[in-house]
Amino acid sequence: MADTYDYDLIVIGSGPGGYVAAIRAAQLGLKTACAEGRETLGGTCLNVGCIPSKALLHSSQLYEEAHSGALTKFGIDLSGVALNLDQMHAEKAKAVKELTGGIEFLFKKNKVDWLKGYATFEGPNAINVAGKSVTAKNIIIATGSSVTPLPGVEVDNDAGVIVDSTGALALPKVPQHLVVIGGGVIGLELGSVWRRLGAKVTVVEYLDQILPGMDEEIRRESAKIFKKQGFDIRTGTKVTGATVANGKATLTVEPAKGGEASTIEADAVLVSIGRRPNTEGLGLDKVGLATNKQGQVETDHDFRTKVPSIWAIGDVIPGPMLAHKAEDEGIAAAENIAGQTGIVNHDVIPSVVYTYPEIAGVGLSEEQAKEKGHDIKVGKFPFMANSRAKTNRDTDGFVKVIADAKNDRVLGVWIISSLAGTLIAEATLAMEFGATSEDIAYTCHAHPTHAEAIKEAAMAVQGKPIHI
Ligand code: FAD
Ligand code: NAI
Repeated sequence: MADTYDYDLIVIGSGPGGYVAAIRAAQLGLKTACAEGRETLGGTCLNVGCIPSKALLHSSQLYEEAHSGALTKFGIDLSGVALNLDQMHAEKAKAVKELTGGIEFLFKKNKVDWLKGYATFEGPNAINVAGKSVTAKNIIIATGSSVTPLPGVEVDNDAGVIVDSTGALALPKVPQHLVVIGGGVIGLELGSVWRRLGAKVTVVEYLDQILPGMDEEIRRESAKIFKKQGFDIRTGTKVTGATVANGKATLTVEPAKGGEASTIEADAVLVSIGRRPNTEGLGLDKVGLATNKQGQVETDHDFRTKVPSIWAIGDVIPGPMLAHKAEDEGIAAAENIAGQTGIVNHDVIPSVVYTYPEIAGVGLSEEQAKEKGHDIKVGKFPFMANSRAKTNRDTDGFVKVIADAKNDRVLGVWIISSLAGTLIAEATLAMEFGATSEDIAYTCHAHPTHAEAIKEAAMAVQGKPIHI
C-alpha cells in the first residue's frame, strides 16, 4: 500500500492502455488512480475511435445490404428502404455511452480513483491535475495519440468540410463526394461507411499501394475489391493544398514523384495520414525524459522509461497503434510494477481492417519474412472454394499461411474475408503457441465454417489442400 505517496500508481490517460493498466494494478492490490482530461473514460478507442467507427461500419453495412438489392437473391425483397442518419448517429452514441460508462463502473468496482483533468509532471513521483499536486510511487504514461496534421490542409471539424476521423464519425449528412487523404486503415474504414451510405469516395494515397505494412498480395487484392465496390483509388498521388469556399473544398494534387498538378472538388475531405503520440504539455522535461524522432516515449522490455518510477504504454510508445496492443501492454506494465513478470509478445499482434470484406493479419508478411532471411513456404486457399462462404454467397478473399520451410513454424497468416477479424484469432493463438502449419492442418475444424479455409491454407503449405 502507498505510504509516503498518495498512490502506489497513477496512470495518465484512460484509453485501452491506461484503463486496463489501472484495473489490473488495483486487482493486484495497488492503490491506483487514473488521470483523464476527457469528459468520459475510454480514450480515443471508446470515444472517437474503435467503437464509434465500428458502430457506423455495422449500421452502414446493414443499410447497404438492405438498400442495394443484394438481399433479393436470397428471396428477401425490400422496398422503400431509407436512411435515417440521425438515428444511425444516435445508436452509435448509445454504444459509446454504454461502453465509456462501463469503464466508470469498473473503476468504481475496482476502487480506481478518477483524477479529472489533464496531468502535467511535477517530478518523477508527482503530477499536477486541475491545480492539485498528487504523488505516486509509480506513474504510467498512457496518453495515446492524436491525428497527424497535413500542412496546407487545415482540419475544421465544426465546419464539417475538411475533417479528421472525429469529424468523419459525425458528418450530419452524406457528402456527395468525399475525398479521403491517406489510404490507410482509417481512410478505408470511414471511406467505406460513407460510400455505403451513398457518397462517391476518392482515396488519395501517397504510396504506390494502399494499406502500408500489410502483405503485398493482400494489399493488391484489397485494392481490387475496393475498386469493384466503387472506390476511386489514386495511388502515387499527393495532396499539396486545399481551399474551402461555399461549403466545398478544392484540393490540389500531384503525382508523388513529381509532375503536373490538378484539382479535385469535394463536399468533404477526410485527413487520415496517420497519428502521432500525445506528449505535448505533459512536462516530460521536468522529469528528464525526451521523445525519440517519432515523438514517442521509449521504454525497455518491461515498459519502464529511463526514469525508474515512470512507465509508458500504448500509442505513445513505439509499435502499432492498436487498442489490443495498448491493453496487453497495460496489463504487463501493471504486473511488472506489482513485482510480477509482465510480458507482451510483440511478434504476435493481430491487426484487422473492419471493411467489407475484413482484412486481417498476424506475424510477418511474405516480404518481411524474406527480408528477415527466412526460407519460406506459402499455402493459400480462396473462399471461393470454401463451402460456407459459397453457401452464404460471400466468396471474396483468401487465407494465406506463411511458414518457415525448414521447421514448418508459422511465421504469418493473412486473411481477406467477411469474417477475417474473427478468424485471425485462431492464427494468433496458433502462432503464440509456436504452431507449425501441420499443427493447424491436423486440427479438426467444424464444417461448414469459414475457419476451414485456414485449415486448407495450412494444408496447402505442404501442397495438399483437399478442396482445390
Ligand atoms: P488513447 O486511447 O488515445 O487514450 C489516451 C487518453 O489519454 C485520452 O483519453 C486522452 O484524453 C488522455 N490524455 C492525454 N494526455 C493526457 C494528460 N496529460 N492527462 C490526462 N489524460 C490525458 N485500434 C484498434 O485496435 N481497433 C480498431 O478498430 C481501431 N479503430 C480506430 C478508429 C479510429 C477512428 C481511430 C482514431 C483509432 C482507432 N484505433 C483502433 C486505434 C486505437 O484507438 C488506439 O490504438 C488506442 O486507443 C490507443 O490506446 P491508448 O490507451 O494508448 O491511448
Ligand atoms: P495509417 O498509417 O494506417 O495510414 C495513413 C496512410 O496515409 C498511409 O497509407 C500513408 O502512406 C498515407 N499518407 C501519408 N501522408 C500522406 C499524404 N501527404 N498524402 C496522401 N497519403 C498520405 O494511418 P490512419 O489511417 O490515419 O490510422 C492511424 C492509426 O490508427 C493506424 O496506425 C492504425 O493502427 C490505427 N487504427 C486502427 C484501426 C484498426 O485497427 N481497425 C482503425 C483505425 C485506426
